[in-house]
Amino acid sequence: MQEKELRSRAWFGRKGKDGFIYRAWMKNQGIPDYEFNGKPIIGICNTWSELTPCNAHFRELAESVKRGILEAGGFPVEFPVMSLGETLIKPTAMLYRNLASMDVEESIRANPIDGVVLLCGCDKTTPSLVMGACSVNIPTIVVSGGPMLTGNHRGKNIGTSDVWRYHDEVRLGNVLEEELVTIEAAMCRSQGHCAVMGTASSMACMVEALGLSLPGNAAIPAADSRRKVLAQLSGLRIVEMVKEDLRLSDILTRNAFENAIKVNAAIGGSTNFVIHLLAIAGRIGVELELNDFNYLSENIPLIANLQPSGKYFMEDLFYAGGLPVVLKALDGILHRDSITVNGKTMAENYSNATGYNSDVITTVDAPFNTSTGLAILTGNLCEAGAVIKPSAASKHLMQHTGKAVVFENIEDFKARIDTEELDVDENSVLVLKNVGPKGYPGMPEVGNMGLPKKLLEKGITDMVRISDGRMSGTGFGTVVLHVSPEAAAGGNFAMIKTGDLITLDVPNRLLNVEISAEELVKRKAQYVAPDPVASRGYVKLYIDHVQQAHLGADMDFLRGGSGDKVVRDSH
Ligand code: FES
Repeated sequence: MQEKELRSRAWFGRKGKDGFIYRAWMKNQGIPDYEFNGKPIIGICNTWSELTPCNAHFRELAESVKRGILEAGGFPVEFPVMSLGETLIKPTAMLYRNLASMDVEESIRANPIDGVVLLCGCDKTTPSLVMGACSVNIPTIVVSGGPMLTGNHRGKNIGTSDVWRYHDEVRLGNVLEEELVTIEAAMCRSQGHCAVMGTASSMACMVEALGLSLPGNAAIPAADSRRKVLAQLSGLRIVEMVKEDLRLSDILTRNAFENAIKVNAAIGGSTNFVIHLLAIAGRIGVELELNDFNYLSENIPLIANLQPSGKYFMEDLFYAGGLPVVLKALDGILHRDSITVNGKTMAENYSNATGYNSDVITTVDAPFNTSTGLAILTGNLCEAGAVIKPSAASKHLMQHTGKAVVFENIEDFKARIDTEELDVDENSVLVLKNVGPKGYPGMPEVGNMGLPKKLLEKGITDMVRISDGRMSGTGFGTVVLHVSPEAAAGGNFAMIKTGDLITLDVPNRLLNVEISAEELVKRKAQYVAPDPVASRGYVKLYIDHVQQAHLGADMDFLRGGSGDKVVRDSH
């Protein structure tokens, strides 16, 4: 079989002035001609940043990838892209997911790269890198940074989900502010991303379930030396993928997406998974709709006992055998023949997986929770859909009718939630508007709004909460998210007023508000959209072009791809 000419030859194999320039400036790094001229050039797309603490160990990880690439006869070129640190970026990292994806896409296409290794970790760094790479579609492999070691405070295991618990305890006066300082250090005690099945872990599982990483990638802790081994093996493999011309579009079939959805349900993955997977599908050109998540997740129980839906941490998942054991437990449910980055099928990869702890990973016949990890709701409150995570919600609220207590925006919520005058009880439904893609902008993770202090004091721990925003993958509660269309887009959600009766019916996948047709027309006629928060720059571009949550909140002009051809090829 004739090997396909390397893409990078259009730079380094070129004669004349252009070829001279391409090669000469590479040589100023002290690289001899034979090192890069004629070998597969492998980009290492690095989201290392000290402002993204979850990815701060990525320089070391890149060195391991490089060793693998060199060993296989390729030449590594590491390049930085915009990094999104979930905890520090304001107003929310999600506002910049699409911007980072543009950076990735254009950086790959514009440069002499034959294959690329994506170094992803903290929540948004995975979808943004995969989205960008999909729009170019060259051979690509993902290496996740790995989770932190399990936190431990005074002999008790703790993780990111405890942030919400401790926050409520401080509000009640049960934990002192000073103690929080030691809890902070005890929680984040090693390199890596959040150690529960939050969004970062869900994204790491997503790439493994899609077939975009080597088997076992999802769960190896960042601090475990086997993470570096996986990185080196990934470097080795990407060179072979270039020779085989195994591209993202060969792996990311409709069946691969269906596998990822089923796995996310079985592990109690983040609700953010929905929005990111829809955006990735949009980039690679696979038809995927919000409602697909309903029927594909249906009847898939929770078989991974991980916080926030369960008890354990990612480190425990690794010791129990990792994601391949979960995949094996889903044999017969998954598409077995989906091809993965190592050239083997999904089933070939998990066939030898062995489980070591049935309290962490169980079977479909004896699940930890029969509630699925994800449900999509429809109704007149969310004409294009909304999302809930039943496995992290309260059973007694799965069918509930209550009076709305409406907050027009997050500032309104913060100002009034703990006031004595707030007319609210445990049967009320908290409604938070204008935290959607356009409205905030960027759809922040504020959907699991804290309960009113006076109800916490009564011992109430959960209420139905509804918003057009998102929730941290580490969050929990009976929380309806991603209401679409969002309030700022003028959907029915924008028309809800305090006192309206709202009915949540998760078994029947319904979310409705009792407003008569005439009243709705009247309210819509009076509706005035809030002023956009930006009149220039990227934020304005985002507000003008971001799509609604049920489409993945990508920008309309970014859907699809432009392939690996450069826009113009002469100076
Ligand atoms: Fe980075 Fe949680 S803050 S993964």
